[in-house]
Amino acid sequence: MIDGFDTVLGGFVHESAPMRVVFRAGSLADVPSEVDRLGAQRVLLVSGGPEAAFADRLAVALGNRLAARFTDVVMHVPVEVARAAAQAAKESNADLVVCLGGGSATGAAKAIALESGLPILAVPTTYAGSEMTAIWGMTENGRKTVGRDPRVQPRVVVYDPELTMSLPIDLSAASAMNAMAHLVEGLYAPGASPITSLVAEEGVRALATAMPLVVIDPNDIDARSLALYGAWLAGWTLAVAGMGIHHKICHVVGGNYDLPHAGVHSAVLPYAMAYNAEHAAPALARAQRALTSAGIDAPDPATGIWLLEQRIGAPTNLADIGLAEVDIPTAANDVVAAGMINPRPVERDAIEQLLRDAWSGVPPRRIPSSSR
Ligand SMILES: NC(=O)c1ccc[n+]([C@@H]2O[C@H](COP(=O)([O-])OP(=O)(O)OC[C@H]3O[C@@H](n4cnc5c(N)ncnc54)[C@H](O)[C@@H]3O)[C@@H](O)[C@H]2O)c1
Repeated sequence: MIDGFDTVLGGFVHESAPMRVVFRAGSLADVPSEVDRLGAQRVLLVSGGPEAAFADRLAVALGNRLAARFTDVVMHVPVEVARAAAQAAKESNADLVVCLGGGSATGAAKAIALESGLPILAVPTTYAGSEMTAIWGMTENGRKTVGRDPRVQPRVVVYDPELTMSLPIDLSAASAMNAMAHLVEGLYAPGASPITSLVAEEGVRALATAMPLVVIDPNDIDARSLALYGAWLAGWTLAVAGMGIHHKICHVVGGNYDLPHAGVHSAVLPYAMAYNAEHAAPALARAQRALTSAGIDAPDPATGIWLLEQRIGAPTNLADIGLAEVDIPTAANDVVAAGMINPRPVERDAIEQLLRDAWSGVPPRRIPSSSR
C-alpha cells in the first residue's frame, strides 16, 4: 500500500450532517441574529452552573424572542431533568431551544429535541463536543442510555472563545483531553474517512498547541480560540467517524462508578492508545505527526498524549479520580460485555491490564495478548 493513504486505499463511506457554525471571539452577540435567521420567535434558553452569567447576558440580548429559561441542568441528564426540560418547552410554547454551557446543558437541550423535535442552537462553553453530534444520553437509576437521532443534532453552533475563559484550568485541561479522545479514536473508528482523518489530525495539532498556552494564561484569547477550534473539530470527528474501545471504557467505567466524565477520558486515553498501538499503527502515526508538529517529542503517540497531560495538569490516573482498585476486574468484565467495534479485538485480560495501568498512571506500555 502507498504510505500515508491508507484511509483512501482501504475504501470508505463518508456522511456528515449539514450544520452552520459561527466561530469568532465575541460571537455571543450574534446569537439573536442567528435565531432570526432560523425564523424562530420563542426561545427556550437552557443553561446551568457558573456559565449562567453569560446566559443572563444572552437573555437580555434576546429581548422579546425569549419565551422562558430552564436552568436545572445536571450532568448525564437524569430522566427527571429530561422530563422537566421537555415540560418547560411545552409550557412556554417554544419554537427553538438555545443551550449555553458544556455537554450537560447541550444534553438537556437534546432531551427536549428528542421529545418534541424542536431545533437546537448551541453555544458551547467547554470542549466536550456534544454540540456537533446527533448522540443523546440519559440516566435512570444510575444507568446511562445513549442513542442516535437526527432530531437532536443542533442546526447552528455559535462558538465564542471568550465564553471559555472562565472555565477553570483543571476543568479546561480535562475537557480538552475529552476532545483529544474524540480525535484520536476518530483516526481509527469505523466511520473514518480521508476527510475525518485530515480533520482529526488538525484537531490534535490545534489542541496540543493550545493547551500548554491555556494553562499558562487562561485569558490568552488566541490560545483559547485555538483550543475551541480543536474542540469543534473533535466533536465533528466523533459525530462522523464514531468511536472505539476508549469511549466504551469511559462510558462503562465512568457511568458505573460515577466518575467525572472528562477526567475519565483523560486518565484512560494513553492506555487505550497503547492497547491499539499495533492494530491501528497508520492511524496513530497521524496523531504522532500532529503531536510532533505541536512540539511534543515522544517515542510513540500514547507517550506523547501522556506527556501532554502531565504538562497541562490533566488527570493521568483513575485512582485519583475515584476508581477503587478492587473494582478493576468487574469493570473489565463490564467493558467486555458491552461489546464494540475496535481495531484490536476485545481481550478480557488485556483490558484488565489496560485498566490497571490507567488506574496507577504508569507510563503507557505495550499491552500484550495473554494468548501470545
Ligand atoms: N452526546 C454527545 O455527543 C456528547 C459528547 C461529549 C460529552 N457528552 C456529555 O456531556 C457531559 C459532559 O460535558 P462537560 O464535560 O462539558 O461537562 P459540564 O457541561 O457538566 O461542565 C463541567 C463543569 O464546568 C462548568 N462550566 C461549563 N462551562 C463553564 C465556563 N465557561 N466557565 C465556568 N464553568 C463552566 C459547568 O457548570 C460544570 O460544573 C456528559 O454528560 C457527557 O456524557 C455528550
